[in-house]
Amino acid sequence: MSGLSSRHVLVVDDEPELCPVIRKALRSYDYHITCAKNGYDALRLYDQERDSFSLILTDINMPGMSGCELALDLKARGSRIPILLMSDDCIQPLPIKCRSLGLSGCLAKPFTPDKLRHALDETSRMANRVCESTAKALNLRVYPDPILREYCTPISTYDSDLQALSEQMFIFMRENCGVGLAGPQVGIIERIIVADDSETALCLVNPEIISASGTERMVEGCLSLPGVQVDVARNAHVGVIGKRQDGKRISIEADGLLARILQHEIDHLNGTLICDYDPVSKMYL
Ligand code: NI
Repeated sequence: MSGLSSRHVLVVDDEPELCPVIRKALRSYDYHITCAKNGYDALRLYDQERDSFSLILTDINMPGMSGCELALDLKARGSRIPILLMSDDCIQPLPIKCRSLGLSGCLAKPFTPDKLRHALDETSRMANRVCESTAKALNLRVYPDPILREYCTPISTYDSDLQALSEQMFIFMRENCGVGLAGPQVGIIERIIVADDSETALCLVNPEIISASGTERMVEGCLSLPGVQVDVARNAHVGVIGKRQDGKRISIEADGLLARILQHEIDHLNGTLICDYDPVSKMYL
């Protein structure tokens, strides 16, 4: 049974002709396919045999319940099954907020059997790595853990491990109600941060502040300094360059909360904590 469940795909699509095509395309490979005709049908099948499925392949646009709404409902049921979307019109890369729902990517329609199999293989592989990284690496480091004082090293390899790490950092940050998270806070002494000010969610690798202006004060907290709040003066506007988790260059002009989060998280990469801005706050640690 473990062999079956490790390759059992729930295909959700309102086009009745698609599922048999997928089944045929994967016939020579070790995939077992179950078909659902819409999101409600998929939830019913999930409720009946939730431990059986290893992956869900769903159309984005379906009448009644979209692929993203299905992902939300599955998440509410506690599902951790990776979900691969398929669409005539994929947005690549998938918005980070979608990925935090467990959506692993988007397969553009129409696809060849090879593309389909590659996408399923890749989604399964990524999901396994995410599980491994969760188990091994993502433990919150709390002051005075010396790792929080390390100067983090630049990242030079942009592979699926880094992609999996960034996704896991987003999930970790959100589960802990944070708006930003830096590598050392989860035991990774490398230059990677994630930030989400509720308007912009981004992962930055090797971020550098290249311009800064204005000054603002705001009271900040930090997941690694529980219970501590410090009034920190920071630049009101910053220009930051770096790379995304896929290695593409990124340049951001930020102000308001996002500017503050970026400065706070980049501080972490240099071993600086908010308590350094107010030595008195260390009395409460
Ligand atoms: Ni922090």
